[in-house]
Amino acid sequence: MNLRNGILLIALITAAIGLIEVNNRASERAAKIEERFKAAVIAAAPTGQLEYFAFPNSEDYSNIPQDPKNPINKPKVELGRIIIQSKYTGIKPMNNAGYGLYNCVICHHDGHGFTNPTDVPLGDGGIIFGDTVVRNPYYTEDSLCDLSTLKASTFLNIAYSDLVLWSGMLGYEGANSGIDFDQLAHFEHPKQLNDLEFKGPELQAFGAGVMAHRFIFDPTDELTKDSYIGKLFYLAFPNDPHPINDINAGLAIAAFERTVLANEAPFQKWLAGDKNALSETDKRNGLHFFKSCATSGCHNSPAFGNDSEFHNFDFPNMWDCYDLVEYDEAAANGRFIVTGDSSDIGKYKVPQLYNVSDHECWGHSCCYDDMDAIVQAHNYNLEFSYLKKCNNFVTVALRDPNLSRYTKTQGEKTDAELLLH
Ligand code: HEC
Repeated sequence: MNLRNGILLIALITAAIGLIEVNNRASERAAKIEERFKAAVIAAAPTGQLEYFAFPNSEDYSNIPQDPKNPINKPKVELGRIIIQSKYTGIKPMNNAGYGLYNCVICHHDGHGFTNPTDVPLGDGGIIFGDTVVRNPYYTEDSLCDLSTLKASTFLNIAYSDLVLWSGMLGYEGANSGIDFDQLAHFEHPKQLNDLEFKGPELQAFGAGVMAHRFIFDPTDELTKDSYIGKLFYLAFPNDPHPINDINAGLAIAAFERTVLANEAPFQKWLAGDKNALSETDKRNGLHFFKSCATSGCHNSPAFGNDSEFHNFDFPNMWDCYDLVEYDEAAANGRFIVTGDSSDIGKYKVPQLYNVSDHECWGHSCCYDDMDAIVQAHNYNLEFSYLKKCNNFVTVALRDPNLSRYTKTQGEKTDAELLLH
């Protein structure tokens, strides 16, 4: 070997050693951040275990939180999936031109994390147009009878909410146990519903299906026992001799909603053991998120919501931001309408955080059109750069990129496929 080759060889060996060292240092760093992130997640879990935040597979019915009075089964889920987007729900429109055109998806769209695709949620009087909703041209402003005065909160991960609606009105457990609904003047309809002693998601499905949005599920000629939907009612409720009715439609909707879990989000994949599902940057951002957001009293349920505490951040109301919407006392009062306690005026539930970056607008009133702005508005003590890191974690790690799998039409299934579980 001549001198030149010798020097070259030494240089190559040094470079290789250097590379190995760099690699070693990178993997040490990766292992360290992985460890710190894991410790932060565990510290944020009220049970002290990672599994607290892990969602089951959507077909793993026995592990999905459910109402014992409404056990999840496959035909029920299939039925709920069809009903929320079916033409059979919007059959009592304000104007005949709206017949069959509105359903649940008009205000709970998968492309928007199952919330409203427009800033003001519009049901009867709207038409779904791709990823958005346009006003039905036959409806005048006065006949837009189903405009909401609150943001359409999502049913994504609702299996982890026992009390639903911004006021936590529906559901008889947790923060609602001990409330004497008879004493509350506002309460005719939730009282009737809560007396049924179903859990919140089941009650909401009756409430939204039967009452709030004037949906109705009447057996029509098309819905005979032999039609696909009719057959599903019979398979889903085998002990009910006349299963095609509104209540069972609500139960099927709730069973379906409970399976709508963001279980393909990167954080869920990480929890299931895929260390690379989150990058080092995601984990660093996650340290901030778990330290300051997913703490007790705030976003601390498995889906990072909370229905045991209600908060007033003085956010504007929808009628402060949109001319189309008029003052609504119940929406303005928030939790007060459930407890009758004046200190609860203007308090709302802490929403869950998966896929919130897909939302059209934020806050109970949809008055914020920028996720950074709303986070700043209620965390005024924290630096913006810090909050930005939390938001980056939410945007990347808590976003399931494939929610449309829940609404896709998959064709009719055979009895064997429906009952095989
Ligand atoms: C006009 C728009 C609109 C339509 C149509 C609509 N919703 Fe909603 N939904 C809302 C609004 C607004 C809220 C929040 C209301 C509140 O908190 O008082 C809501 C809340 C909910 C919630 C509670 C989520 C939570 O965690 O608190 C569920 C579940 C739900 N809707 C399901 C449905 C179903 C099922 C249908 C169809 C049968 C439906 N919605 C139709 C606007 C709509």
